[in-house]
Amino acid sequence: MNRRKLVQLVLIAVLVVIAVVVTVVVVVVIPKSVEQKVICEKPRNSELPFCDSSLPIDSRVHDLISRLTLQEKIGLLGHKSAGASHNVELGYYNWWNEALHGVAWNYEYVGTYFRPPTEYSTVFPQIISLATSFDRELFFLMANATGNEARAFHNAGNAGLTFWSPNINIFRDPRWGRGQETPGEDPYLSAEYARNFVDGLQGEEDKVGFVKASACCKHFAAHSIEEGRDSFDAIVTEQDMADTYLPAFKACVENKVTSIMTAYSGINGVPATANKYYVTDVIRQQWGFDGYIVSDCGAVDDVFYEHKYIKTESETCHAVLDAGMDIECGSFFTRSGFLQAAVSDGNVTEAMLDTALSRGFRVLMRLGYFEKDDKMPYKEFLPEDVDSETHRQLALDAARRSIVLLKNDVTESTGAPPLPLHHLDFTSNGASVALIGPHVNASTVFLGNYHGIPSFIKLPLNEIQRYWSDVKWEAGCEVDSLENNRLIEAENLARSSSQVILFVGINTEIEGETGDRHNITFTGLQTDLIRRVLAVALQPVIMVVVSGGAIDLSAYKNDRRVGAIVWAGYIGQSGGEAIADVLFGNYNPSGRLTQTFYDTNFLGQVTIQDMNMRPVNGSPGRTYRFFTGNPVYPFGHGLSYTSFQYTFASEADVQIPQSSSGCTYVVVRVQNIGSLPGDHSVLTFVAPPNAGLEGRPIKNLKDFQKLHNVVASQIRDVQICLNIDMFKLANVDGVFEIVSGEWTLMVADLTKRVVVY
Ligand SMILES: *[C@@H]1O[C@H](CO)[C@@H](O)[C@H](O)[C@H]1NC(C)=O
Ligand SMILES: *[C@@H]1O[C@H](CO)[C@@H](O)[C@H](O)[C@H]1NC(C)=O
Ligand SMILES: *[C@@H]1O[C@H](CO)[C@@H](O)[C@H](O)[C@H]1NC(C)=O
Ligand SMILES: *[C@@H]1O[C@H](CO)[C@@H](O)[C@H](O)[C@H]1NC(C)=O
Repeated sequence: MNRRKLVQLVLIAVLVVIAVVVTVVVVVVIPKSVEQKVICEKPRNSELPFCDSSLPIDSRVHDLISRLTLQEKIGLLGHKSAGASHNVELGYYNWWNEALHGVAWNYEYVGTYFRPPTEYSTVFPQIISLATSFDRELFFLMANATGNEARAFHNAGNAGLTFWSPNINIFRDPRWGRGQETPGEDPYLSAEYARNFVDGLQGEEDKVGFVKASACCKHFAAHSIEEGRDSFDAIVTEQDMADTYLPAFKACVENKVTSIMTAYSGINGVPATANKYYVTDVIRQQWGFDGYIVSDCGAVDDVFYEHKYIKTESETCHAVLDAGMDIECGSFFTRSGFLQAAVSDGNVTEAMLDTALSRGFRVLMRLGYFEKDDKMPYKEFLPEDVDSETHRQLALDAARRSIVLLKNDVTESTGAPPLPLHHLDFTSNGASVALIGPHVNASTVFLGNYHGIPSFIKLPLNEIQRYWSDVKWEAGCEVDSLENNRLIEAENLARSSSQVILFVGINTEIEGETGDRHNITFTGLQTDLIRRVLAVALQPVIMVVVSGGAIDLSAYKNDRRVGAIVWAGYIGQSGGEAIADVLFGNYNPSGRLTQTFYDTNFLGQVTIQDMNMRPVNGSPGRTYRFFTGNPVYPFGHGLSYTSFQYTFASEADVQIPQSSSGCTYVVVRVQNIGSLPGDHSVLTFVAPPNAGLEGRPIKNLKDFQKLHNVVASQIRDVQICLNIDMFKLANVDGVFEIVSGEWTLMVADLTKRVVVY
C-alpha cells in the first residue's frame, strides 16, 4: 500500500467516525432536547388552535384536550407523561423537577439532567440555614437565581418547567429528618419565606406574560414525619391547623403559586391526597388557588395500600381525582390499568380526567410551553447563566448570612471572647491552631437534602488554611461510626495547641428523607471526642456544629471550657469559606435560630407522632410559641461580634381600635454600640392577653426586618407596621378573631403595651 492510499484510508476512517458521532448526536441527543421544548413548532400541531397564542388560555387548553384520546389522557395524568401522538404530538414530559436550594437532583426518575451544557448548578444553603438570615431579599434572590438557572436548564433541554419546591411544612419536632428543608418552626416566617420563594422562582407573570418556572408548595399539609409517613394519620386540631400548619400554604396561594403537592400522610382520618375538604374546599374554593395539585410520589398507592382508606382500586382513582388531585406522581393509575378500569366501570368519568388535565395544561401554557419559537419566553437564559460568577457570589454571601453564633463568652485570660480569631495573634507568638473533629474536611455534607451538583465545594480545612497556613488537624473519629477512632491522637493534638476549633455534627444520612432521628445528641464517638478535647485544651475551645435539626448542646452552653459555639448547617457549595470568614471576622455573623434548640429531655416528653402544638396530654408544647420548658437556645437566638441597643422612638402605649385598617407605626431605634460593622435582624413579636394560657400562644412573630452593614455607633430607625390582623388569634374552631385587651409588643428586650379595643 503506497503512502497516498494509506493517507486516503485514514482520512476515510476519520470521516466515518465523525459521521457516526454526528449521527449519534443528531439522532440520539438533540431530539430529546428539542422535543421537550417546542411542541408548537411540530408541523402537526403548529396550525391548531391550542398553539394559537392569540386565543385565551382556557380555550387553547380546551382545544388541546378535545384532540386527545382516552388512552392518551390516562397516560398524561402521571408525572412521567407519556405524551400523545394520535391527533396531536406531545412529547414526553416529566413534571418532576426539584429546586429546593438551587436546581437539584440528578436521578433518573426526575426530569432534570446534569449534563452538558448544564453540568452544574449553584448550590445555595439548605433552607433551615438560609432562613436564619431573616432576610426576605435574600430569600427572593436565591429563588430568582434558581428560577433563572431552571429556565436555562430547560432551554438547554435539560429540565422541565415544573419544580416541586419549596418545602414549607412546619419544623415542629427536632427529630424530623426533613426539617432541614424548611424555613423552621414559625408559621409567619414560613409564609414570608414561601412568598419570596414563589415570587423569585416564578418571576413576574404579570409583566412578562409568562411564569418563569413553576413552584410547588409541599407537602399539604401538616407533614413532618418520615418514618411511617405512608400510613401516618396526623391528628390535628382545627386550631393548630389554622394558626400553625396552614398559613404558609395560604401565603403561597396568595402569591399565585402554580402548584401544591399533597402529603403522604392523612389529616384526621382522610389521606391528604384524597382529602376533598382540604384540596377542593379550602385550597381551591376558599383560597382561590389557580394551578395543579400533584400527589407526593407514590401517595396514591398509599391511599389504597397503606392507609387502606378505600376498598377498591377503582374507587381510589375516583377518590383522588374527585378530591381535586390532578397529576399523580407515581404510577398507580397506569401500572395495572386501574384508571382505565375505573373509567370503564363508571367510577371515573372522562370529564374528571379532562378537569385534571386542564389544570395541568393551563400551568404549562402559563409557562409558555405551548408557544412557538418566536414567542417562547425567557429564551435569554443560557447555559452561562447557570453556575455563573454572580450566582457563586450569591451562594457565598448567603452561606455567610446563614451561620448562627450561639455562644461567644469572654475568655478570662485574654479579657476578650475567642471569636473572631485574629490571625496575627497566631503569627506573632508562635501559637498554633488545631482543627479537630469529623467535619474538619466537610464537603458534600454542606449540600444537604435535595441538592444539585455544584462545580466546587469549599472545605473548612482548606479555607482556614488561607487565613492561617500552619494549621494542624485530626478528625478524631467519624461522624457516625465507632470504627477508625483516633481519639488519642486528637487528645494529643489538643494538648499541644494554643487554640482548638472543633468541627462536629451530623449529616443527611442521620437526618434525611430516609429517616427521622431518635435522639438529638452527637453521633458516633463525637461526645467522647469533645470530652477528651475539653479536658486537655489550653484555652476555651471553639465549636463549629454542622447540622440541619437542633443538637442537644446543653452540656456545652455553660461549660467554660467551650468559649464559642458556631452553628453552621448545610450551607451549600461555599460552606467552608463562609465558616472561615466568620471565624476570622471577615464576616460578622448575623443569623438567628428559626428552630428551638431543645435538650434531650424534650424527646421523652412528647412523641414525634403527637401533632399538638399546644401543651396538652402531658406534652410540654412545641416551638417558642407554646413550649413551656426551658430551651437550650431559643428561637431567634443569635449573637454578633458587635452589640445592638434598642430604644423606642416614643414611650407611649399604642392604641388600636378593632375597626382600624392599615398601619399604626412604632419606630424602634437600633444602634450599633460595638466597634465592628454588622448585619442585624430585628424581630418583632406580640404576646396576647393571657399569653400561654387556654391555648393562647406565649408570643407570635409578626414582623422581621434586616439591617445591612450597620457601622459602629450608627443608628437605624426601624418602622414597624402594626395592623389589626396581628392581634387576631385562631379559636378552637380554627377561626381567627380579634382579641381585645392588653397585648405586649416585644422587640429584643424592649416591650410596649398595645391596647386593642
Ligand atoms: C431576577 O431575575 C430576573 C430575570 O428573571 C432579572 O432580570 C433580575 O435582575 C433579577 N432580580 C434581581 C434583584 O437580581
Ligand atoms: C366502582 O368500583 C366498584 C369496585 O371496583 C364497583 O363495584 C362499582 O360498580 C364501580 N362503579 C360505580 C359507578 O360505582
Ligand atoms: C479532604 O477531602 C478531600 C475530598 O473531599 C480530599 O481530596 C482531601 O485529601 C481531604 N483532605 C484531608 C486533609 O483529609
Ligand atoms: C442516636 O441516633 C443515631 C442515629 O439516629 C444512632 O446512630 C445512635 O446510636 C443514637 N445514639 C443513642 C445514644 O441512642
